[in-house]
Amino acid sequence: MKRVITYGTYDVLHYGHINLLKRARALGDYLVVALSSDEFNAIKNKKSYYTYEQRKTILEACRYVDLVIPENNWEQKISDIKEYKIDTFVMGDDWEGKFDFLKDYCEVIYLPRTPDVSSTQTKNYLSSKI
Ligand code: CTP
Repeated sequence: MKRVITYGTYDVLHYGHINLLKRARALGDYLVVALSSDEFNAIKNKKSYYTYEQRKTILEACRYVDLVIPENNWEQKISDIKEYKIDTFVMGDDWEGKFDFLKDYCEVIYLPRTPDVSSTQTKNYLSSKI
């Protein structure tokens, strides 16, 4: 059983997210998504439209996601990799190189981002229409 992990906020879920999750899941047999908590978003000066529990409910309904856990800080990645027996860490290539230090613990893969879509872009567009 090959286990994969990825991290993110996944607010206002869009097809770029699904493309990432589908490819991440295809790299193994079990996909863990560490989902940014509302408190961690505040630390990053981000505010999601949906709460953590709402974003978790949506992700859990996605066929490519096996488990959703909270991401509460920048430092938890190494302990998550150990606790969940992770073989492969995956992020979109907007994070290229940023997590290479995890190569001591598992495989690290950056996947190409889907062009022309993001949660921020969607939220800005919708708020301009109201
Ligand atoms: N992602 C992707 N393609 C996109 C948008 C996101 O592959 N067009 C990936 C990111 O690289 C990351 C994951 O989806 O691995 C979660 O990204 P997140 O930051 O939650 O989504 P964004 O839409 O980028 O959000 P924001 O606009 O708030 O930055």
